[in-house]
Amino acid sequence: MSDLDVLENVHRLIAASTGAGKSYFVGWLVEKLYAEKKPFIILDTKTKNHIGLIGLKGVKLLKIKPGARYDWQKLLEYPYILCIPTLRTRTADLIEQYTALIDEIYNTGNERIIIVEEAHNYSKNAYVPSPVLELVAREGRGRRICLWFVSQRIQEFSKLLWSQCYVTYLFKMLIPQDVKYVEQFIPDFTEINRKLQKYDALEYQHLSGEYQVIPGSNVNRSTKHYG
Ligand SMILES: Nc1ncnc2c1ncn2[C@@H]1O[C@H](COP(=O)(O)OP(=O)(O)OP(=O)(O)O)[C@@H](O)[C@H]1O
Ligand SMILES: [Mg+2]
Repeated sequence: MSDLDVLENVHRLIAASTGAGKSYFVGWLVEKLYAEKKPFIILDTKTKNHIGLIGLKGVKLLKIKPGARYDWQKLLEYPYILCIPTLRTRTADLIEQYTALIDEIYNTGNERIIIVEEAHNYSKNAYVPSPVLELVAREGRGRRICLWFVSQRIQEFSKLLWSQCYVTYLFKMLIPQDVKYVEQFIPDFTEINRKLQKYDALEYQHLSGEYQVIPGSNVNRSTKHYG
């Protein structure tokens, strides 16, 4: 089982039911990116219970207001960015703003790891992906743009986007239908899932079928997580 470097230029999916530890884990990975000065942007969907990381020096926090216009180019001059909605921002408005921002990152070829929280919300359903996400998933790596999708609804997340992910992180799943669904993509998942403990993360590499389990006790954030 070989280790996968967090800096490797690949798309990733992080999936599990709500409260499983996805955002805490992603925050831990982002702390590693930050330590290596790798530019990132987090498109968070939580207002108060967001991913945190604002304790890190130089992280720009942007609150997305409904109907407001932003100068994305100016924002993207910051290497480390956390976007969160305000209490009044509806999901549809937020997705629209974030989609425009992802489009801007792609068109300007801005090197970036884009963390997309609640990624299932961008696509119509599992069979019809968001056109912008599909484009970036297919072509972004050449521009050093990587997508890290986070979703608590694995069955609603786009199959095409998942097929573009080189690595998937999963936490213990308790819903039998979800386990069965994941088996289509990870053949041994039932067996692996049985052995997972709370907060353990399975790191699965799709091309090789290699995997490792990262114990929850190894996942220690240095910054505060608000979730
Ligand atoms: N490895 C860990 N060790 C200890 N506590 C953890 C660990 N991972 C997560 N937690 C705690 O579990 C709670 C839920 O974690 P988190 O917010 O990451 O869940 P989530 O999967 O992102 O949920 P949601 O889908 O609702 O966003 C948090 O209070 C967090 O502090
Ligand atoms: Mg979360």
